[in-house]
Amino acid sequence: MTEITWKKIEDVLTSKKSDVEENIRGWIYRTRSSGNIVFMIVRDSSGILQATIKKGNLPDSQFEDAKNALIESSVELTGIIREDKRAPGGFELQVINLNVVNFADVFPIVKDQSQEFLLDQRHLWIRSRKMTSILKIRSTVVGAIHKFFRDRGFFEFDAPVLQPNQCEGGSTLFEVKYYKNKTFLSQSWQLYAEAGIFSMEKIYNMGPTFRAEKSKTSRHLSEFWMAEMEAAWMDLYDVIEIGKSEIKFILKQVLENNKNELETLEQDINKLKIIAESDFPTITYTEALKILNDQDNMNIEWGKDLRTLEENKLADHFQTPVVVTHYPVEIMAFYKPRDKKNPDTALCFDMIAPDGYGEIIGGSERSLDIEDMVDRLKKMGEEIDNYKWYFDLRKYGSVPHSGYGVGVERVVAWICGIDNIKDAIPFPRTLLRFRP
Ligand code: 4AD
Ligand code: MG
Repeated sequence: MTEITWKKIEDVLTSKKSDVEENIRGWIYRTRSSGNIVFMIVRDSSGILQATIKKGNLPDSQFEDAKNALIESSVELTGIIREDKRAPGGFELQVINLNVVNFADVFPIVKDQSQEFLLDQRHLWIRSRKMTSILKIRSTVVGAIHKFFRDRGFFEFDAPVLQPNQCEGGSTLFEVKYYKNKTFLSQSWQLYAEAGIFSMEKIYNMGPTFRAEKSKTSRHLSEFWMAEMEAAWMDLYDVIEIGKSEIKFILKQVLENNKNELETLEQDINKLKIIAESDFPTITYTEALKILNDQDNMNIEWGKDLRTLEENKLADHFQTPVVVTHYPVEIMAFYKPRDKKNPDTALCFDMIAPDGYGEIIGGSERSLDIEDMVDRLKKMGEEIDNYKWYFDLRKYGSVPHSGYGVGVERVVAWICGIDNIKDAIPFPRTLLRFRP
């Protein structure tokens, strides 16, 4: 018995070869029949192809199967490839053999259903062309992040997901029952990374991160993936430059590998290309307020965090990602150090994406001042004993160090141009959703 060679639809279409016999397998994307002919559009992970099934070209029982099979039935087809300008991709398969592997029930998803319905049917909706395109881009983004850091001599370093401390404020912690104790799901890899740099100096990680965000927004997930880096001997400006290079590298990798997916999503490829070649500006928080207050007639008081509206205005102003440094120290996490030259501000930065996607990176230099950190933690009502191990890192060969975290889904959402971050992850978890 000879082994069947299955051809990917994309390879059939790009090889542009007519009059050859091919074997295709996949799922019925659309189908319609009239009399003695069935037009079946078949999809696999790589694309869609029209299969033309004519009575007489294959056994009658198979023709009946073709007429009866509903969308999302899984099929194996053998046929001859012919050029046909009217078919999607310019070629069709004239079928001589059909095997329906599974006759699908009536598929619950039809056109124009609500976002909530599609989220309920997420296990089925991820096979849509839209979701497949986004998930392929996500795969490129994740691969690019690993490549970016490994090519630059960073080691991958893992932190526990169950952690006794907060990192980014107690209000968004997820508590977990831990035998007879309690612990929390990781809000960030950072505090453990600050231990890791004494061993490996330059490290990175990408993993699930948890925040109990108590509001519904198009930018927040309860479970998201953060890609973080931490490096010994680096200051704020060193890591800002790495962050800018990382985002440009990710964008270039997507432009190189996912042109078809960006087209399916109707994303403006030229706009992304221009951004990938631009310099991303760096401004201070105080300069950002000046831009907003002068040009947009806003009236933001120094000391307040930038809200969505303000971040969007800034992004509109620059049209590229923009880095904002030196936020007011009062509204920053306990580990962000005061700038000695201006102690009301912290040596920290955010990168804000264009087009309303908000903060895609948050990072900083790390405080080396135990006393200042203790004060700030106490103000937050934290148990100082829990941080003793962290303060040890300042006692045994402390060095200047810095790092940042990239919100993977925010980057994916921005590059894909989608309206909700929920579509940037296969199975989103939010305030109101933890199923399926
Ligand atoms: O700015 P954040 O809170 O920074 C940290 O957690 C630092 N400890 C990282 C570090 O320095 N190693 O989070 C980093 C990024 C944000 O800029 C944002 O892109 C993303 O993570 N992010 C979220 N993405 C989706 N849903 C949420 N609830 C998010 N919270 C933060
Ligand atoms: Mg932040």
